Amino acid sequence: MNDSVAATKAAASVHADRRLRLAVSMREGVAIVPTAPERVRNRDAHYPFRFDSYFHYLTGFTEPESVLVLVAGDAPRSILFCREKNEEREIWDGFRHGPDAARAKFGFDEAYPIALLDAKMPELLSNQPMLHYAPGADAAWDARIMGWMNAVREKVRLGISAPASIGDLRVPLDEMRLVKDSAELATMRRAAGISAIAHRRAMQAARPGRYEYEVEAELLYAFRRHGAQFPAYTSIVASGANACVLHYVGNDAPMADGDLLLIDAGCELDGYASDITRTFPVNGRFTGPQRTLYELVLAAQSAAMAETCAGKGWNEPHDAAVRVLAQGMLDLGLLAGSLDEVLEKETYRRYYMHRTGHWLGLDVHDAGDYKLAGQWRPLVPGMVLTVEPGIYVRPGEDVPQQYWNIGIRIEDDVLVTSAGCEVLTHETPKSIADIEALMRDA
Ligand code: GLY
Ligand code: MN
Ligand code: MN
Repeated sequence: MNDSVAATKAAASVHADRRLRLAVSMREGVAIVPTAPERVRNRDAHYPFRFDSYFHYLTGFTEPESVLVLVAGDAPRSILFCREKNEEREIWDGFRHGPDAARAKFGFDEAYPIALLDAKMPELLSNQPMLHYAPGADAAWDARIMGWMNAVREKVRLGISAPASIGDLRVPLDEMRLVKDSAELATMRRAAGISAIAHRRAMQAARPGRYEYEVEAELLYAFRRHGAQFPAYTSIVASGANACVLHYVGNDAPMADGDLLLIDAGCELDGYASDITRTFPVNGRFTGPQRTLYELVLAAQSAAMAETCAGKGWNEPHDAAVRVLAQGMLDLGLLAGSLDEVLEKETYRRYYMHRTGHWLGLDVHDAGDYKLAGQWRPLVPGMVLTVEPGIYVRPGEDVPQQYWNIGIRIEDDVLVTSAGCEVLTHETPKSIADIEALMRDA
């Protein structure tokens, strides 16, 4: 077996294994998992196709117009519906596996042309006790699936029954996706490495007078240059006061000498997101007030990371970051009162209004509940999350003027391990000394 055949077989077995685990957790019934639709952007121009994350997790199959059907029970079967080979379409749009090759390469038990889906599904749902899918995720699929259910119900007088209950497939799948396997972690480490290269490139490209979009272009170049297919989300390249707009994506302002530049950008590699924020001076040298606030956010991030380990609750990194930030806001005259008061009344939210992280994986805000039975869930090895405290100071009469319009966030991607945590994005410069050194040498 050559290396690429061996890699394909290994990947197929990872996905087959996930399908089997899902079938075991379903116990009985039929699961339906369509991939995402192709979407028109404007006349004849499409958005780049991005598969559905659940579908990809279970198949690794990247073609549009595909549906996975999983039949649970004593001998679980996985069935793919996909596009047929079509010489004409392949001349225009490129290669299609077709059902036979897809079945063999991706390890399905059966595969059929997507055109047979409506004919075959009532058969596959007949006499099954339960239907599992993602109700409400897509109105068109809801209607189509209910059409199949009704087609089965029409056969009641032939002694055929339709599934009596419907389960939300996202419940077991989200739990599975929350704990990454080694194949996922390998991809996520590579995605993080590419995003780190991109952020370094951005730091080296920033100069007073250049435009934010010129730096965005460097990020996009590095993502693609190193094999990532997409940005995982729209990059935020926000200089000066723009950094205080949390979802700023205009990226069209000239960058001023003396301002900071906040970049929140990460690539998607083979379906997996990375998510990094760095904030650095446009001219390569932090001013005194910028340095003060930057060190505060960095200290908050260290405190949060120290709480990011197996056994800690989801909220503990956030609470640790908030405590450090709140004390800093008091020390710097941004807030008045006692620490207890600031925490109790949440007055720190004037300058820190978001949470300190989220799950990360196939989606940048990845699948998975944050509470179990009303309690923040404990972290377990294999979970990947971001740690991203920040501070955003808008002008105000009661706000020390030296901090006006400074917005800082520092965000890393972190894997929970049994010993603590591994920072997947560690190759992205973060200390003031490392950032200034890199920019000096640019
Ligand atoms: N880039 C999206 C986020 O940080 O949540
Ligand atoms: Mn994030
Ligand atoms: Mn981010």
